[in-house]
Amino acid sequence: MKTCTTIREIRAEIKAHKAAGRRVGFVPTMGALHEGHLSLARTLRQYSDIRVCSIFVNPTQFNDPKDYEAYIINLDRDKELLEHEGVDLLFAPHVSEMYPQGYQTTVTVNEISKPFEGALRPGHFAGVATVVTVLFNAVSPDVAIFGEKDFQQLRLIEQMVRDLQMDIEIVRGSLVRDSDGLALSSRNVRLSPEGRRNSLAISRGLFAAQAAFRKGEISGAKLEEIVTSSVQDVSGATIDYIAVVREDTLERVGDVTDPCRILVVVKIDGVRLLDNIALD
Ligand code: PAJ
Repeated sequence: MKTCTTIREIRAEIKAHKAAGRRVGFVPTMGALHEGHLSLARTLRQYSDIRVCSIFVNPTQFNDPKDYEAYIINLDRDKELLEHEGVDLLFAPHVSEMYPQGYQTTVTVNEISKPFEGALRPGHFAGVATVVTVLFNAVSPDVAIFGEKDFQQLRLIEQMVRDLQMDIEIVRGSLVRDSDGLALSSRNVRLSPEGRRNSLAISRGLFAAQAAFRKGEISGAKLEEIVTSSVQDVSGATIDYIAVVREDTLERVGDVTDPCRILVVVKIDGVRLLDNIALD
């Protein structure tokens, strides 16, 4: 696997692959890689001839400076994991390469950025849309994959690509869980052993709500209540939101008649845990 740190270098590599008629697949990440990220790289194999991964901890999407400082990655370890996965190219730029002095452009996607993460983390989605646009311009992928773990982010990228007529296929990667049900996240290491155990109430609640839906419960409020009752008594837990939403617009629904998801964010030990499940 070759590592490029500048846009000029990565462009030269990609140009050579494209000249050889190869389809370029792309997995953007912020490092601290786990099986969720690696599964995206694996899925992408079906869609592309060469696979490019980026590792860039994007300062503009952290609305909380403490969260940015706590975001520790180990580039050597991440590189080993990507090598092992057979990824062809790694793009790992420095902040000054992505945002050179005098940088002043921001990409905002309107409606989809407003609720949930957008409301609780001002500026977060503008940071994501902007960095993904710069990454897309550097890598020029034919296809890129984003995880369903961050469902609102995935919808934001799909909307942006459509609105800006970017010629990139966006693939959805399934959410990967630990064997006990917890959605994998780079932030899970910040949980105490007790918090780690308590966090299972989230996926338990989501599975129970999905099971209820499959048995015929279509009331959004009742499905939300099933998840709420699973997490509300957990010590140290605070609910940011639990919402049954339409998959396309992320609007909250009364009854589940079209494709919907339950989106959840619960803080445990001060760690924000995002999860969601499809109602199918
Ligand atoms: P990061 O949190 O590193 O995630 C990179 C990709 O991995 C995202 O598409 C995310 O949805 C996916 N992912 C994370 N955990 C997952 C899991 N348990 N199962 C499946 N996929 C999972 O998301 C970002 O970085 C950044 O916002 C980024 C898009 C790179 C822009 O900076």
